[in-house]
Amino acid sequence: MKPKKYFVSSFILLLLLVAAGASRAAVKSGYHCSDCHTMHNSQDGRPVATELNTSTYTFEADTTPNQFLLVSDCTGCHTSTGSSTIVNDTPIVFNTFTLVDPLAGGNYYYVKSDDSKGHNPAGITSQDSVLGLTPPGGTTMAAQLRCAGQYGCHGDRSAGNEYTALKGAHHADDSGGVDGSSVGLSYRFLKGVVGKEDPDWEQDNINTSHNEYKGSTGPSADTISYLCSRCHGNFHTWTGGASAVGTSSPWLRHPTDIALKASGEYANYTTYSMTAPVARPDPDNVPDTTRVRPGTDIVMCLSCHRAHASPYYKILRWDYKSPTLSTALSGCNVCHTSKN
Ligand code: HEC
Ligand code: HEC
Ligand code: HEC
Ligand code: HEC
Ligand code: HEC
Repeated sequence: MKPKKYFVSSFILLLLLVAAGASRAAVKSGYHCSDCHTMHNSQDGRPVATELNTSTYTFEADTTPNQFLLVSDCTGCHTSTGSSTIVNDTPIVFNTFTLVDPLAGGNYYYVKSDDSKGHNPAGITSQDSVLGLTPPGGTTMAAQLRCAGQYGCHGDRSAGNEYTALKGAHHADDSGGVDGSSVGLSYRFLKGVVGKEDPDWEQDNINTSHNEYKGSTGPSADTISYLCSRCHGNFHTWTGGASAVGTSSPWLRHPTDIALKASGEYANYTTYSMTAPVARPDPDNVPDTTRVRPGTDIVMCLSCHRAHASPYYKILRWDYKSPTLSTALSGCNVCHTSKN
């Protein structure tokens, strides 16, 4: 009897250890495996998995089992038909009908009705009616954009399959911060990119708790802007080079991954703005995250754009055509403080 009881309790202990392991990881405690995985995609003879119908934008049963035995796909888990942008600790990047408080990356809700307001990934919307498969500043892709893998942004971009690209990431323990060494230990699962992750994905949109993005004033593969340059190469200072962007004033295209000067109009940008944020050369060591340091901090693609989609033309963070742009600190003039 005794050995058997011992066996049973150690089995329970093992389960507890697995659960404890999960609670330290990106997937939060309180979850059961069955919240996200289904062993046979069958219960009472009916499918367990659900998928988003991209005509009606509602969920329906999915008879085809998913990779890694998942209850839904990337879009399915990260979409909501309600208005909240964090649901059961899951960051929502596509609210199908209405939303409040979009997260830092923006929300695909806006691209649903206007291709020019966002990226058009498969599973959310059809390909961009104007740009098709060609990222401006880069070369035409062989397939429509997707969340992850070789035609996407998240995960290992050398993986052909979206799930292989993410393998292990959701279960990685990133409580010690990210260093880019694996997908799970990269900023927002963007393999190789570093930064500091705001726990509520900037849902509260305040400058006392925000993401810290990595920038670099020389060629470097771990910056957020370098990630964008993987597809939009000519628009990035170091990837595009002198002929595409220039090397100093007068510039040919707007520079990114260069420091704001400590002189002139840039010297007046000292309070970190959620409208036009800056990147940092060392995101883990920023003395005061509410401040901007002209001469040190860096202009990035996300100073002006969101990553997914926004309410504005060309995924901008503000309305470029707004008549009030020049009168308040509402866009370009957050940095160009003397231009109004
Ligand atoms: C909140 C959702 C969620 C929960 C809960 C969850 N998983 Fe996962 N799991 C995922 C996702 C998403 C993937 C696929 C992408 C990835 O690996 O990041 C995955 C992948 C896996 C994989 C394949 C990749 C790897 O790391 O080897 C295994 C095995 C796995 N989960 C086991 C489990 C077990 C066992 C539990 C319960 C203790 C569990 N999962 C709970 C979301 C979840
Ligand atoms: C079964 C549901 C499920 C599926 C499928 C799933 N995710 Fe997630 N994902 C989650 C949850 C839950 C979290 C939040 C984990 C946390 O941060 O606590 C998450 C977090 C993320 C994050 C944010 C990581 C961070 O650092 O904040 C990214 C990016 C992401 N998922 C991408 C993907 C991609 C790409 C796929 C498809 C390959 C995918 N997810 C599939 C449930 C899922
Ligand atoms: C995997 C390739 C890829 C990466 C990485 C990528 N993009 Fe794109 N981007 C595209 C493609 C393809 C299009 C054109 C089709 C579309 O809009 O979906 C595009 C379009 C755009 C547009 C124009 C949108 C429109 O519809 O007119 C902007 C702005 C943009 N990207 C900004 C960014 C930024 C900022 C980043 C980095 C956060 C980035 N992109 C990273 C592939 C990529
Ligand atoms: C995050 C800060 C930031 C934001 C926001 C920003 N810029 Fe810039 N901009 C810079 C920096 C830094 C330079 C490079 C100045 C230098 O050192 O030569 C620059 C350069 C320029 C130049 C080229 C100047 C020259 O001498 O060649 C123009 C034009 C310009 N910006 C316009 C804009 C417009 C229009 C917007 C809004 C759509 C904008 N900028 C938003 C920081 C910013
Ligand atoms: C200073 C602000 C600013 C920065 C920094 C910036 N952009 Fe833009 N971007 C704009 C504006 C404004 C537009 C739309 C109108 C225009 O081109 O003037 C635009 C348009 C685009 C487009 C659409 C082009 C088309 O043909 O439709 C893409 C793609 C794009 N940006 C990608 C990027 C990438 C990638 C980076 C970083 C390497 C970046 N942007 C950095 C302000 C910026």
